[in-house]
Amino acid sequence: MSLLKIGVIPGDGVGPEVTEVGLAVLEKVAKRDGLAYELIPFDIGGERYIKTGDVLPQSEQDRLRACDVILLGAVGHPGVAPGVLEKGILLKLRFDFHQYINLRPVRLFPGAPCPITGKGPDDIDMVVVRENNEDLYVGAGGFTYKGTSEEVAIQTSMNTRAGVERCIRYAFEAARKRAERGDFGSLSAADKAKGYKRQVTLVAKTNVLTFAHDLWMRAFNEVAAEYPDVKPAYMHVDACCMRMVTNPEWFDVIVTTNMFGDIITDLGAVLQGGMGLAASGNLNPDKTAPSMFEPVHGSAPDIAGKGIANPLAAILSVAMMLDHVGRSESGDSVRKAVAAVLAAGSPRTPDLGGKSSTAEVGKAALAALD
Ligand code: NAD
Ligand code: IPM
Ligand code: MN
Repeated sequence: MSLLKIGVIPGDGVGPEVTEVGLAVLEKVAKRDGLAYELIPFDIGGERYIKTGDVLPQSEQDRLRACDVILLGAVGHPGVAPGVLEKGILLKLRFDFHQYINLRPVRLFPGAPCPITGKGPDDIDMVVVRENNEDLYVGAGGFTYKGTSEEVAIQTSMNTRAGVERCIRYAFEAARKRAERGDFGSLSAADKAKGYKRQVTLVAKTNVLTFAHDLWMRAFNEVAAEYPDVKPAYMHVDACCMRMVTNPEWFDVIVTTNMFGDIITDLGAVLQGGMGLAASGNLNPDKTAPSMFEPVHGSAPDIAGKGIANPLAAILSVAMMLDHVGRSESGDSVRKAVAAVLAAGSPRTPDLGGKSSTAEVGKAALAALD
């Protein structure tokens, strides 16, 4: 069997702390399930930039491209201007490697703290399909009269028919895959009678962004017509934020723009117990370049170096990586181990109300794999 080449970018702040635990879990599950892999470490991030001025040298990017998949901790450093590392590393890889889907499951495991009274694991189980290569993230724009009282700053949202459509189609396919697990509980009897099994909600702002989101809406309606078994729904992003809190059970699959997806998935992270529990995959579904898996959270400078970061988001990102490489049974067993740790109530890192360290939670996850 060929060796799976995994590029590893631990990055900044808590990134290396949680990545170490994610890799320990990978090691154990891979040994047990007969997955042969090779780790290729990358020293990319704030410290290197401060020392050498290198953000992402071309040679490093070429070596990353030669990997099958990439695991990333986090980038972002208090000693580096905002955007240098985020755009120069994270966004550059997402764009250059055509990782046009950012898949962000929002699922509350039993035992994880939910901030919404009266809601539980049955209510919080959705997935956000975030467009990952367009919108405000393309870096189109500039200043005129910079630094003067007449300054103008423009930042343009780019939305292409092809880019929007492939993302929407991915969301409908994701809904069909979820149908294999059973129907979406929140569908009404009338919807079920129409043959709907699952639901995709487009989250946008068609009432204000009457060009860009008109394109999204038209593409959405056209793609939806090809999926008579999936109920199409629409919600403005502001109302979506409200409903994610009041009625999270209403959501199944959400498809949305890059910017809105960024924002609503931090809200989604909190619904599932916090930033320390939210995983993501930057996917190149065509596999023309590596996909990249990372926790939704950042480098968390406020807790970095203390050994108390929650490693579960990084572990769950490893599980998503396993799914991507065709090892979803291994991925499921990693998710089960995380579920067992959460159900046990301890150990827990401080973000979940506990007093345990990153390493202690990691050890418990490893033990739960048995
Ligand atoms: P953040 O996600 O790093 O932190 C937000 C809050 O969540 C903090 O209070 C932090 O302590 C907490 N938190 C995050 N991860 C945690 C974990 N694993 N365990 C326990 N608590 C955790 O967001 P921020 O503070 O806005 O950003 C910090 C830096 O990270 C910035 O430079 C930002 O640009 C960058 N960032 C990078 C990524 C990424 O690499 N994918 C994502 C988001 C932000
Ligand atoms: C995320 C992060 C990134 C984003 C930043 C660090 C560029 O917030 O992955 O959610 O906005 O996509
Ligand atoms: Mn974000």
